[in-house]
Amino acid sequence: MPAAADGKGGDLPLLQVSCCWMPSGSLRKTMRSQAACRAWIKILLEAGRECWIFLVINIINMIISIALIWAVVVGLCCLLWLAVGIRRRQPGEPAVENGFIPYLGCALQFGANPFSSSAAARRNMIAGQYIHFLCDPFSYHSVIRQGRHLDWRKFHFATSVKVLDFHRYVSSSIEDFSMLILVSPSMVLKLSLLPSQVFGHDSFDPRHGHTTENLHQTFLKTLQGEALPSLIESMMGHLQDVMLKSDKLSPSKDHWDVDGIFAFCYKVMFESGYLTLFGKELGEDKIQAQQEAQKALVLNALENFKEFDKIFPALVQAYLSMCLRAPTKLAKTMHAENLSKRENVSDLISMRMILNDSLSTFNDVSKSRTHVALLWASQANTLPATFWSLFYLISRDNRLLEHKMLRVLIFLNRMTALTIIFLSESRCYEAAREEVLKILEDSGLTVDPSNPTLNLTRDQLDNMPVLDSIIKEAMRLSSASMNVRVAKEDFLLHLDNQEAYRIRKDDVIALYPPMLHFDPDIYEDPYEFKFDRFLDEKGQEKVNFSRNGRRLRYFNMPFGSGVTKCPGRFFAVYEIKQFLTLVLSYFDMELLDPATQVPPLDQSRAGLGILQPTYDVDFRYKLRSTTC
Ligand code: HEM
Repeated sequence: MPAAADGKGGDLPLLQVSCCWMPSGSLRKTMRSQAACRAWIKILLEAGRECWIFLVINIINMIISIALIWAVVVGLCCLLWLAVGIRRRQPGEPAVENGFIPYLGCALQFGANPFSSSAAARRNMIAGQYIHFLCDPFSYHSVIRQGRHLDWRKFHFATSVKVLDFHRYVSSSIEDFSMLILVSPSMVLKLSLLPSQVFGHDSFDPRHGHTTENLHQTFLKTLQGEALPSLIESMMGHLQDVMLKSDKLSPSKDHWDVDGIFAFCYKVMFESGYLTLFGKELGEDKIQAQQEAQKALVLNALENFKEFDKIFPALVQAYLSMCLRAPTKLAKTMHAENLSKRENVSDLISMRMILNDSLSTFNDVSKSRTHVALLWASQANTLPATFWSLFYLISRDNRLLEHKMLRVLIFLNRMTALTIIFLSESRCYEAAREEVLKILEDSGLTVDPSNPTLNLTRDQLDNMPVLDSIIKEAMRLSSASMNVRVAKEDFLLHLDNQEAYRIRKDDVIALYPPMLHFDPDIYEDPYEFKFDRFLDEKGQEKVNFSRNGRRLRYFNMPFGSGVTKCPGRFFAVYEIKQFLTLVLSYFDMELLDPATQVPPLDQSRAGLGILQPTYDVDFRYKLRSTTC
């Protein structure tokens, strides 16, 4: 109410109006309490209605002026950016297109859909941050070979990027399409962050002075060659324990269990992989309480990993740090004192502990974060790769042959093209199971869910070309890792077509395997899953792929390339083969909805590795009633 009408204000009706106009009671109170307010009201009263109109016009004027000033400032910034902020093409350099939007350029297109953007970006460029994308597979070698001009360490597991200044990166495109430019700020941020920053441990690069370890050698020693048999054996045991003996899954012969394929793969592969690398708590078999604690630990690790994995793209893009809850919790469980209580720890982790202590100056937190980084490297791609392999294996088109009615149809229409398609697609499940049964039979192994002790040697796993082809094809369709190198100096990049382009120091050169994997000149019907795509006419591994009649050296790159190629790639493929062998041996499986379409890829991880599905797909499984 118009309490300002204290006798001095006089005209009550006008005061009532002004109070209603005022935004809040507290403001009214404040104003009432001030003598200035009374003077102001008096002026208003005197000026009457004209004064209000005048005030409103003034406010509108002020808003328009501010907007105009901002428009001029933004316009000037754009002009300034156009004049000095973008790279001009120098003689011998590829053409530069900077896109429409200052700084962002082609980024929005790329963010929405990397593939369509890549096609559109042939003559486009972006300001702010730039990358060269090499899209001629015949020229890959010039980047992959370890030339003296290119630095692979800047984006390497081992390196810290604190020294990098990405705002200096400028790039350009080659008009003959042998080099393709794609640019996305998020992509550049992904590139600009190295594991050390995402995971929060100190740099492994000896040049930064925290360690003298040769990390690359450590990976090769502990993940390849002689290290593999024990990893394989341990994984096979854990896979069977989790699938058949844990309380998380309790498959039965009598009823179907329903689960999401991704959820199932996550549960089985995470726990098995985790136990294979990090071992089990000492004396776990002896004491019940310790067994419970062990289960709780793995479950906890799984939940924390899930949370961490979910935010990983954001971590990489948004420069968030390890202060987040999940990764910090994960790191705590990996303190040296906790790890030392475990037995059957893999060489990868035990060697990591020894070298962390002997060759580095890392503090305890940093040390445990190196283990989190390895956990992520070992799981983040393997889990979705397992999902896609299992999904394609049991998806409808591949299972048609199992349907009796269809078998009859196929028999009746054997000569029609449609039937031929059905036949070839449905053979996936059949062929995979046939291969598995043969291996088991040849090795004299019996499938018995009540005593799950199947074991396959490395040689036997190597002798599974059908599973190999299924896994390769599943990864061809879902992998989106980025291979990057940084120019150490200005140099001439020689391409396969005899042309050479000047590359400036600090330019980023990237290979983006999806460009290769979806190239119709290399892969016929590139968006289709063909289980036998990587099999030759003899049913063995196909290694001969061509483009325009010329044999390709690089045609399938889910694991990266050159010196930075994934050191865990052999183990990864073995793990997935073991998983598929076991589910094919122990379970009957089918999609809950046989008409399920292939779920779209979650592009938020583009550049980081194997893409996850945007949603899970339900399937049902039960123990096979017949043993073999
Ligand atoms: C399907 C599964 C996997 C895929 C697709 C995959 C893919 C990759 C890719 C693309 C890179 C980066 C390569 C580059 O920078 O050029 C990488 C690095 C790495 N991967 Fe894998 N990986 C898989 C599984 C594994 C497993 C199971 C392990 C370990 C047990 C592992 C350990 C590593 C490590 C340690 C690095 C860092 C290597 C370095 O920077 O020196 N990976 N992986």
